[in-house]
Amino acid sequence: MTSVTSLSDSVQQRLAAALTAALPDADSADPLLRRSDRADFQANGILALAKKAKANPRELATQVVGRVESGDVIKEIEVSGPGFLNITIADRAITETLAARYADADRLGVPPKEKPGITVVDYAQPNVAKEMHVGHLRSAVIGDALRGMLDFTGERTIGRHHIGDWGTQFGMLIQYLFEHPGELAPADAVDGEQAMSNLNRVYKASRAVFDSDEEFKERARKRVVALQSGDKETLELWQQFVDESKVYFYSVFEKLDMEIRDEEIVGESAYNDMMPETARLLEESGVAVRSEGALVVFFDEIRGKDDQPVPLIVQKADGGFGYAASDLSAIRDRVTGLHATSLLYVVDVRQSLHFKMVFETARRAGWLSDEVTAHNMGYGTVLGADGKPFKTREGETVKLEDLLDEAVERAAEVVREKAQDLSEAEIQERAAQVGIGAVKYADLSTSPSRDYKFDLDQMVSLNGDTSVYLQYAYARIQSILRKAGETKPTAHPELDLHEAERALGLHLDAFGDTVFEAAAEYAPHKLAAYLYQLASLYTSFYDRCPVLKADSPAQVENRLFLCDMTARTLHKGMALLSIRTPERL
Ligand code: ARG
Repeated sequence: MTSVTSLSDSVQQRLAAALTAALPDADSADPLLRRSDRADFQANGILALAKKAKANPRELATQVVGRVESGDVIKEIEVSGPGFLNITIADRAITETLAARYADADRLGVPPKEKPGITVVDYAQPNVAKEMHVGHLRSAVIGDALRGMLDFTGERTIGRHHIGDWGTQFGMLIQYLFEHPGELAPADAVDGEQAMSNLNRVYKASRAVFDSDEEFKERARKRVVALQSGDKETLELWQQFVDESKVYFYSVFEKLDMEIRDEEIVGESAYNDMMPETARLLEESGVAVRSEGALVVFFDEIRGKDDQPVPLIVQKADGGFGYAASDLSAIRDRVTGLHATSLLYVVDVRQSLHFKMVFETARRAGWLSDEVTAHNMGYGTVLGADGKPFKTREGETVKLEDLLDEAVERAAEVVREKAQDLSEAEIQERAAQVGIGAVKYADLSTSPSRDYKFDLDQMVSLNGDTSVYLQYAYARIQSILRKAGETKPTAHPELDLHEAERALGLHLDAFGDTVFEAAAEYAPHKLAAYLYQLASLYTSFYDRCPVLKADSPAQVENRLFLCDMTARTLHKGMALLSIRTPERL
């Protein structure tokens, strides 16, 4: 593995060295380097540094120019305005840097961080015996992308799918199954669709008896107690619901082209044995107190109606544990058992109060600290094209599978229209990659905290900020590379670059910095925006710089090299977001 310093870092280092030499007493020497329209980079930090040192900014800037090491990387550096610096990079440095990246097909020269931590990512957490909806889609898509990006930075990620597999609602289901054995087919005999339809049928039937038959209700209540006390027969029936649901979950995740590992499905029930101890630790340390029989935690700043404090309930007055107790136990397990340094929760923003209280409780108990932090990446609601929360025409929540199927169908229309030489089987394969990619990209290209519109027409459009646009850019490059035949992409650092080549090259070089920033901020939309801009810069390069008909054989090779470097970067970036890039479209 080669590790390549980005041009921006090279310039940054040179400017910082010159600044330190000019201002030996300053405690910071950050030139605040930015990409700019005026030149390749602009440094804006001199003004503030001069102010602090009571120096004239233009004079300081001039001193920096005099001291900066130029030549190899920096072709031109000049003072502009009140004390900015405009920097132009040498063509040769651009091509050489990219060539070094190109040589490292796997990581494009981006080194992993030196001191990685362990991040536990809690995402893709559907509920047992329930249909998955668009909210679960967001958690899965965003969580998967965050993991991809974090892994690339060298961070070790561990997934936790905190599925809803525990609670009083299981009393009714289990009791019904106990009285109607055989209503759930064995999990290994059904596919995802059958599994969900079985579960739905059992759910509806049990609900109907539960609502109409008081004696059944009582038996269901007793069944909850049996479940909580670990009664063997009850647990076996419960397990059937879990297994049947997993068949369904896996079928949806497969459709989503997402790998979910069984050992990472660790639902609420898994923390059952820890909950009494969690409660005891909280009570003994005084973090939680007894109030009307329940064990609760109070927060000064969290108040509800009538300005009454809203407590977090660790244990109910009847002794039962709920959602908070399982999350608190999960924190202990992830910190102590998995040695996590960061806990990331990709959960609907509507649960943000729950996490605020859970995290604060864990901090008071000493389970979270400055070294071990927790963050809820609370995502917004999925809206329909009309801007209202996404529902069917009949006002029901939309089944995730129907949605994915429709996306793939729409994509098939687009692919079929464009493809002349594809067989029907190839069209279907591409359609899945395009349709699922479109759904993921639409989600990932908006800031996660914002609501986003689920608009299939827009998602599979060839124009605009869509994954199809990026996938076409990639496929077009592959077709050029095929046409080039024996002529191989080769870097020629001696060549002067066209303006469009420079813009593309500088952007290509910023890939690693972008992924690190997006990963650190848990902001997949920053990577998506980078990729969209990459495709746009490639398009203007392609429009303005003939590739196969370039002026000289060396220029043909160098442009092919820029094409291939673009393709590799697109491919890598999309892969981190878990989106496919078909070779032909
Ligand atoms: N299963 C929950 C739901 O569907 C989400 C679980 C989120 N994760 C957690 N650790 N609480 O709402």
